[in-house]
Amino acid sequence: MENHPKDAETGWDPALYDAQHAFVWERAAEVLALLAPQPGERILDLGCGTGHLTSRIAAAGARVVGLDISPEMIAEARRNYPELEFVAGDGCNFHFEQPFDAVFSNAALHWMRDPDAVARSIAEALVEGGRFVAELGAEGNVERLVEALRRGREAIGFGVERDFNPWYFPTIGEYASLLETQGLEVTYALVFDRPTPLEAGEAGLRNWLRMFAASFWSDLDARKQEELFLVVEQRLRGDLFREGRWHVDYRRLRVVARRAE
Ligand code: BEZ
Repeated sequence: MENHPKDAETGWDPALYDAQHAFVWERAAEVLALLAPQPGERILDLGCGTGHLTSRIAAAGARVVGLDISPEMIAEARRNYPELEFVAGDGCNFHFEQPFDAVFSNAALHWMRDPDAVARSIAEALVEGGRFVAELGAEGNVERLVEALRRGREAIGFGVERDFNPWYFPTIGEYASLLETQGLEVTYALVFDRPTPLEAGEAGLRNWLRMFAASFWSDLDARKQEELFLVVEQRLRGDLFREGRWHVDYRRLRVVARRAE
């Protein structure tokens, strides 16, 4: 992400991200269609991760810049697409000299913990009439997973008193009014469930947990981590494992807005 699972202790693993989590960009065709990038447009891919969607936007003929907080992801994006422009920077506070016709973001905004500051930076980065097109986790996203992680920690004798949840999953109403406060007029918004199958069969859930949910286990030693993963798998198997694959309980918020003229 993409301005995402940057954890102070674990950092990002672009190799694991690209090898096992391709669904992040492969499932983005519809939100890309909403963006409908045009030849010659200047577009920012906010939380570009390893650059795969940045490259699809470029393939439409747009002049695209990828921005991500993770230096590891940016380095991988540059290796993947050396012909494209990638910048390491914070989605909560970014500034470019030249404005953009559109700002695009997929599966990244929920990692950015100051959504007002993100929306302000987006509005300031757009030309008048410019568009913002994004998909992120909606309220209720990965709810069963989070519950299983909290209960799992308790089951192995660890506390759940602090807030482990590193994500921002807004409702439509909350997010629309946040955008409006920054002068972005919402023209489309949709919330929908999107159960998402993971790669790697049985190992899929723990790959996901290792990649994305470090705040729930990074204080545990390796033995306790293993115990937690086993308990979480047991709790979720009936709900989220079918036909040999884990399915994460994703719930998406898709939004289009335009900067007022
Ligand atoms: C998501 O894309 O919804 C997501 C990814 C990783 C962690 C949490 C949510």
